[in-house]
Amino acid sequence: MNRNEQQIMDIDQNEINREDDMNFTITPWEVSGGLDDDNLYIKLIKKFGTQSIDDLLISRIQEITGEIHPLLKQRYFFSHRDLGWIFDKYQHGEKFYLYTGRGPSGMVHLGHILPWIFTKYLQEKFDVKLLFQITDDEKFLYNINLSRGQIKKFTYENILDIIAVGFKPELTKIIIDTIHIKHLYPIALDISRKITFSTAKAAFGFSNNTNIGMIGFPPIQASPCFLPSVLENKPTPVLIPAAIDQDPYWRITRDVAEKLGYYKPAQIHSKFLPSLTMNSKMSSSKPDDAVLTTDEPEVVVKKIKSSLTGGQPTVAIQRELGGNPNKCPVFWYLKYFFDSEKKSNERFYRCTSGNLLCGECKNNLADNSKDFIIEFKKNRERAKNVISDFILDGKSDEVESIQNA
Ligand code: TYM
Repeated sequence: MNRNEQQIMDIDQNEINREDDMNFTITPWEVSGGLDDDNLYIKLIKKFGTQSIDDLLISRIQEITGEIHPLLKQRYFFSHRDLGWIFDKYQHGEKFYLYTGRGPSGMVHLGHILPWIFTKYLQEKFDVKLLFQITDDEKFLYNINLSRGQIKKFTYENILDIIAVGFKPELTKIIIDTIHIKHLYPIALDISRKITFSTAKAAFGFSNNTNIGMIGFPPIQASPCFLPSVLENKPTPVLIPAAIDQDPYWRITRDVAEKLGYYKPAQIHSKFLPSLTMNSKMSSSKPDDAVLTTDEPEVVVKKIKSSLTGGQPTVAIQRELGGNPNKCPVFWYLKYFFDSEKKSNERFYRCTSGNLLCGECKNNLADNSKDFIIEFKKNRERAKNVISDFILDGKSDEVESIQNA
């Protein structure tokens, strides 16, 4: 049993179920509270009934791919369903599809691209196809203040980000719901017939005030889990890399999969990248507290320099008591984007022992982020010329209308 599993065992189930211990809300549309709880992810594994990624699974990945991605090593990806099963299938010659997505409600931030960077690594190492869904319908239904025109514009901007991550065009297809609905709708119908309102309410927290479009939406996000079986004309395994907020979709999908003759989709779940204020996850709806890929480099530096940290109110107290890296967004961004494991551990100990001041970390992060954003922006520019290579069914009038939005 590894440390992670031991910790899970050590947390009393009753304690986890206590109301005051579950003072966070995690749905695909809302993540609030909990990010300051050191046991959040252990509790989520229990609450959602997933499994922690143990050392055995990590060595298996290393055996197959020859390398462990830092996001896995650092346990940013911390939980899964059926990952071992996906590897069994793969090793017996059954290739899986990757499936992930984006809801275009704003510009893309650093938190979004972490699962995409990891998905790219999986695509390269396993040489597998990727379906990338853009749920423009979901974001229109959920954000009643956003117009169709605004969502179209974000769809275009977000596609540039997706391509800029570096997926292989010959193995990647972007599905835009309102354009490619004919590929999803028949599957969504099969799924909808098997899900009752009471199941949907329990999984997503729908209430009498929820608009009926939202209530009917989940089968659309579930459909790409089964589309590979339709495209390949045989049951085809699917692996979904995403943060754990998307999990309710996969729970209902897994419930109906076998009844419809498909494999249950497997998942690998990541943690959340916190906002610059550390009190919530980074989110498109709070652009001032997020580092956006479209921010100018000087804006990125400014945002980082004025970010909250886990530091003490004065240098003297920091030297005496040390800081708290676990509560510091600057530490987390450095850890997941730029620091090696060794460097991150050193940073942690220098900070907690009072030998590191926040200014140094902020400077490190600002320099690294500036270079990263400059490079990413170049990729976004190049992406403008290759959009049609990535879109399902190639370029159409509708895709052109998105480009002109
Ligand atoms: P969306 O656009 O909210 O998020 C896109 C991806 O980014 C992850 N994510 C984050 N990860 C870490 N830290 C954060 N602060 C953070 N914020 C968002 C999300 O988990 C997701 O992986 N309904 C979906 C779109 C979708 C999808 C999918 C996502 C359709 N099919 C399949 C994942 C897999 C959405 O609105 O994601």
